[in-house]
Amino acid sequence: MANSLSPETIIVIKSTAPALQQHGVEITTRMYERLFVDPEIKALFDLAAQKSGEQPKRLAAAILAFAQNADKLDALRPAIERIAARHIATHIKPEHYPAVANALLPAIKDVLGDAVDERVLAAWGEAYWFLAEVLISREKTLYAEAA
Ligand code: HEM
Repeated sequence: MANSLSPETIIVIKSTAPALQQHGVEITTRMYERLFVDPEIKALFDLAAQKSGEQPKRLAAAILAFAQNADKLDALRPAIERIAARHIATHIKPEHYPAVANALLPAIKDVLGDAVDERVLAAWGEAYWFLAEVLISREKTLYAEAA
């Protein structure tokens, strides 16, 4: 796993984050439309919604907010602990992570169209996978401790 994002990627993320967050609701909605085509993935969220009693819509918004802080991982530590605990409770596994990437990145393109080019999407893909690796690694430890 890379220890940090490249300086180039950080510049692209920070300069495009405001546009993404401005359209955050649309991007989130589109992401879940794409994600829930897979019944197995949808079932993970149905279970979570039953447990928490609310629509699990925080994930996409968090990814958008998080990517901006991917160069300040220490500041994200408390949030990473909370998310990893929630993921353990809802049985999220490493093999689920590509589905979210494959839903989020095309959703960004669907909503922002020509305003995002391949360079921007590649930077967001890199930031997503950077955070995903951090979570997957922490969740691996938590699953092992629980076993
Ligand atoms: C970089 C990747 C990811 C990030 C940053 C992320 C972030 C989050 C956040 C912030 C929450 C809410 C935690 C809380 O209760 O405060 C959450 C919950 C959840 N995540 Fe993730 N997540 C990621 C990947 C995934 C993947 C790959 C899946 C499954 C396909 C997933 C499924 C869930 C579910 C089912 C919940 C519980 C619903 C909820 O409480 O909102 N997440 N995630």
